[in-house]
Amino acid sequence: MTAVGDIRGTTTDRRAVISLLRRLRSPEGQANPLPLWQELRAMGDVVAAPWGGAHFVTGFDACDQVLRGRTWLAPDFAWQERQPNPERWQAPATQEMTRTLSRLNAPVHTVHRRSLNNPFDRRGLDGLSSQIAAHVTRLLDDLGRRLRDDGEADFVATVSEQLPVRTVGQWLGIEPEHFAHVLDFTQRQAFAQELLPTKSELAVSAQATLDMRAFFTDLIRQRRKRPGDDALSGLIRFWDDRYPDDRARADQAVYDLTMFVTVASVETTVTLLTNAVAFVTQDPARAEWLRQNPDHLDGAIDETLRYDPPIHLNSRVAGDDTVLAGVPIAKDTVVHVMFGAANHDPRRNEDPHVFDIHRGGSHLTFGGGAHYCLGAGLARLEARQLLSQTLNRFPTLRPIGSPTYAPRMVFRRATSLKVTL
Ligand code: HEM
Repeated sequence: MTAVGDIRGTTTDRRAVISLLRRLRSPEGQANPLPLWQELRAMGDVVAAPWGGAHFVTGFDACDQVLRGRTWLAPDFAWQERQPNPERWQAPATQEMTRTLSRLNAPVHTVHRRSLNNPFDRRGLDGLSSQIAAHVTRLLDDLGRRLRDDGEADFVATVSEQLPVRTVGQWLGIEPEHFAHVLDFTQRQAFAQELLPTKSELAVSAQATLDMRAFFTDLIRQRRKRPGDDALSGLIRFWDDRYPDDRARADQAVYDLTMFVTVASVETTVTLLTNAVAFVTQDPARAEWLRQNPDHLDGAIDETLRYDPPIHLNSRVAGDDTVLAGVPIAKDTVVHVMFGAANHDPRRNEDPHVFDIHRGGSHLTFGGGAHYCLGAGLARLEARQLLSQTLNRFPTLRPIGSPTYAPRMVFRRATSLKVTL
């Protein structure tokens, strides 16, 4: 174990940071990012990015300070315009994402967030619980058939990729025949949110953005004709009341929120569900113990979230000249919060490389402060229902090897997990 004690400071070794970022994105880095997070953290709590004008934040406390601090802002349109090279953010998919909740700052952020009306509080989750349980049962029926017919199955394609899109889809009132399309554009648009997307990645995201816009625009148009008691109808009512004379503006706000909640909820939860099942079932004794002690399911889920966060990196900008972990940061400088490095900071979680469902440790996986994940309760509920039913219906389920992940740095995407009985 390295990197104990007071790390602080920043490295000046550009080449070491470039090599590390390359390795983080590679298939090997995706398969096991833990040693790379440790290496990055050992360079300092705040590490200068090789391209200048930006820093990686690696220590738990420093990341927490950024996420919760009122003087750290989301990189919004106003910030982009102040940059010497604003054209860097002109790609359609990037522009589309800059309008969403996670890139807004107060007071606009507050109004948009309020319009969602805290949908996944205890009452909201109670209402969704039986629907999610029913989705899980049907998906596990399908898994059972595949295991019986073929002797093995891909847990990602059969179960974990299906549950989040069904959950958010039903909540928004999307017809099931569209779920595959929604999943597809969700996966393609994520490239634009990579740290340094290539031209071809941006082209994939641009097409996905067009598909996404066409889909949700039509969905909103149809819902206006036949409103109901679903979440999308509620959003339309809120924004129509706010802009009674400007239908286009109301529709834009409804689109931004609906699209973002869908994008924010699908891949992240797929990765959580896949990792939770993989980490628990790869140790038969752990799986059996958890089956008999379901009170500890929540502990297993939070340890999964800590150990392998579905989002690796999130960005903020300094609202003022400031000092972070001893490093001076000028106003408007970008900092990239590294969730995995922070969650594995041994100053916060002892022996961080050990997966321990009794740990009761801390993690920043759902962010913090004004932008704290609105769907944290929903993601946990999906994971609890899935783990519980999986362990009870398939007590001998085992992964064949480890999950595989797409070569991305920002949004982790589990692509496959082969399982057998
Ligand atoms: C394991 C699954 C999930 C993870 C790891 C995750 C992670 C995050 C993180 C780190 C943020 C903060 C972004 C920031 O600071 O800018 C965030 C924001 C958000 N998440 Fe999640 N999320 C998950 C699931 C969901 C689900 C299921 C939903 C909705 C159904 C959702 C909706 C949102 C929304 C709307 C925001 C924006 C909040 C704001 O900016 O005010 N997320 N999420």
